[in-house]
Amino acid sequence: MPKFIITGGRRLSGEIKINGAKNAALKIIPAAILSEQTITVNNLPGIEDIGKSFDLLTDLGAKITHRGSSAEIDTKNINKTELSSKLADKFRTSVMFVGPLLARFGEVSFPHPGGCVIGAGSRPIDLFLEGFKAFGATVEEEDGKCYRVKGKKLQGTTYFFSTVSVTVTESLMMTACLIPGETILKNCAMEPEIKALADYLNEQGAKISGAGTPIIKIEGVTELSAGTFDIIPDRIETGSFALLAAATNSEIKITACNPDHILSLLTVFDKIGVKYEEGADWLLMKPSKNIRSYNIKTHEYPGFPTDLQSPYAVLMTQAHGLSLIQETIYDRRLIWTDMLSQMGANIIMCDPHRVVISGPTGLHGKKLISPDIRAGIALVIAALIADGTTEIDNIYQLDRGYEKLDERLKKLGADIQRLD
Ligand code: EPU
Repeated sequence: MPKFIITGGRRLSGEIKINGAKNAALKIIPAAILSEQTITVNNLPGIEDIGKSFDLLTDLGAKITHRGSSAEIDTKNINKTELSSKLADKFRTSVMFVGPLLARFGEVSFPHPGGCVIGAGSRPIDLFLEGFKAFGATVEEEDGKCYRVKGKKLQGTTYFFSTVSVTVTESLMMTACLIPGETILKNCAMEPEIKALADYLNEQGAKISGAGTPIIKIEGVTELSAGTFDIIPDRIETGSFALLAAATNSEIKITACNPDHILSLLTVFDKIGVKYEEGADWLLMKPSKNIRSYNIKTHEYPGFPTDLQSPYAVLMTQAHGLSLIQETIYDRRLIWTDMLSQMGANIIMCDPHRVVISGPTGLHGKKLISPDIRAGIALVIAALIADGTTEIDNIYQLDRGYEKLDERLKKLGADIQRLD
């Protein structure tokens, strides 16, 4: 398995450019199925999961033409409604293909999506299925491994999300675009990627209002036209690199980003003494000494993102005092902190949702295995501040979300090598 070898202790400096958001790109690709005309997507990040999405779309019969970080997608000749098990069970967002296929063809078969398990156990898709049923679809399930969703005469509906979910909000919003009548979705997630998806679909002729608020209304239309989508900057990459700069006490300019999308993190920076300057599309992280501890609780957007909990935990190992980190979105997304303890951090796990970190502590190089994408970036940051050399195995998990991470960090002066 490919691994990173990182020797820590260097102060970094320079500029790092933010790529298009993984979690926006992964929805736009399946959304292309909703239109029979050609879709252009710009600012695509060059990461593993995007390649897998394109493979799945090609397998359905779509034609994709790549031009650097742009792609033209033509789904006119899609000729099947069955997601290949071999391709779809490799990544979680294969489930995002289900709604658009159902809306356009009235049926779809698919395996339980695979991907990052975040802790233990596979992630449920019950809310997706419940939502499709609310439109009048029927769902057949085989041992929780394969599903067949059918509905030739779907109808707009009013649906309340019992759990706030990003991908389920996006999935039902996309599906409703081609379903006759009005759909009202209540208790929706409000992430910027949802608003970006709605803006793009509206440009193609969809009638969506309220995206980015808890209530989204969609008036079904019969077809969507061609469209061009410029993927918004990745706010989790932005936050991860800002935390990396703070933890390594470095001056780093983060460009092509949207600081407005990480206000929850910047507000915490103000409280703990992390210095930065910001512009409309850049963030200049300044060296910051004597960082103070501060408690965080992950929350749906605009709250503190679960995807930044792990790099924040690394920063707290360098802060003065006790900090309580509460993970409220995913079960067992704090298990990775055991690796931080192995590196010398002083961490007590109170229960699966809460850890207390006492800082500051020195960290030491270790041999580790990256359990998932966000824990992976946290381990990279920990390795950059640790004494000695750290080996991080299974960096495939990092390649899923961070394009050419080693090359970009090397440009900032990091001592990081990839071993394939
Ligand atoms: N949930 C269910 N049933 C479902 C779907 C979700 O119980 O059918 C639960 C989840 O288990 C979780 C909660 O709902 O406890 C909320 O999860 P959500 O559905 O919002 O997560 P998601 O939509 O699967 C997206 C991002 C995640 C990010 C979360 C929270 C994408 C592709 N993924 O996931 O990103 O952590 O929202 O903001 O948009 C990542 O990028 O590393 C990542 C995991």
